[in-house]
Amino acid sequence: MNNTGSPTDLQELAWINGEFLAPAEATIPALDRGFIFGDAVYEVIPAYAGKLFLLQPHLQRLARSLEITRIPNPKTDLQWRTLLTELARRCGSHDQSLYLQVTRGVAPRDHAFPDTEPTVFCMSRPLPVISDQQLQQGLSAITTEDIRWNYCHAKTTSLIANVMLRQQAVDAGADEAILLRDGLVTEGSASNVFVVIGGELITPPAGEQLLHGITRERIIQLAQRQGIAVAQRPITEQQLHQADEVCVSSSTKSILPVTRLDGSPVGKGLPGPVWLQLWEAYQAEVQAFGDQ
Ligand code: PDD
Repeated sequence: MNNTGSPTDLQELAWINGEFLAPAEATIPALDRGFIFGDAVYEVIPAYAGKLFLLQPHLQRLARSLEITRIPNPKTDLQWRTLLTELARRCGSHDQSLYLQVTRGVAPRDHAFPDTEPTVFCMSRPLPVISDQQLQQGLSAITTEDIRWNYCHAKTTSLIANVMLRQQAVDAGADEAILLRDGLVTEGSASNVFVVIGGELITPPAGEQLLHGITRERIIQLAQRQGIAVAQRPITEQQLHQADEVCVSSSTKSILPVTRLDGSPVGKGLPGPVWLQLWEAYQAEVQAFGDQ
């Protein structure tokens, strides 16, 4: 929506274990299990005009990630809401990306769970601005093998596979890696994937092989409201390559078109009409939310 904010807006702010401070000054002990093992979960929540968007589903997914990884939830939903709202408020009225992380805590290095308190870290940064070029020309993606583990529905910080897969895309001059497991699309390295075939919007079904994106869910609802046929079913590698449109969604990207895949044009090689309809519907919703 807007990322200019007022001149008094803080661009970045962190909160760690009870204290607000600049992100560069936030430190954790080296024995924190988030650092040692990637033993942690996280969320990324967009805030439009300083207001947290779709917070409740993000908190539900956080609770689910904590349950799967058996990390105790250190806060009630109300406490999370109070903390994140205060963090966003202190930053001002610009569009923000709120990051929160819960680690299993600090303990002598041993794989088994220690008896310790979770570490909580949060930060706000400006939401990345989506450029006119991204909207007019779309993104490029490569396809690659999904080399990740089998609990991709848990939003854990153990992201080395995602990091390597994204870098593979960057090394190939592309923006995103679209992942394939047993010949089927799972998701992007940091996004969910949609295709349009014959006017129908299709996204892989939510299971353990992909993150149940909050934006994905919202896009499905918006598509239904717009009268677009939507299906959650497997997408083969061949269908991906033959799709009329390909899109990726996330809390920081909303929904963006992919117009080049493995060096070839997707459909006509330009952002497609179904993407445009969804983008406009999503932007209208965000605008109305910010104006409330
Ligand atoms: N990532 N799949 C993966 C692997 C992701 O990392 C993300 C988002 C999504 C989209 O989920 P959501 O719509 O809830 O943001 C799907 C965030 C933005 C990140 O890691 O920065």
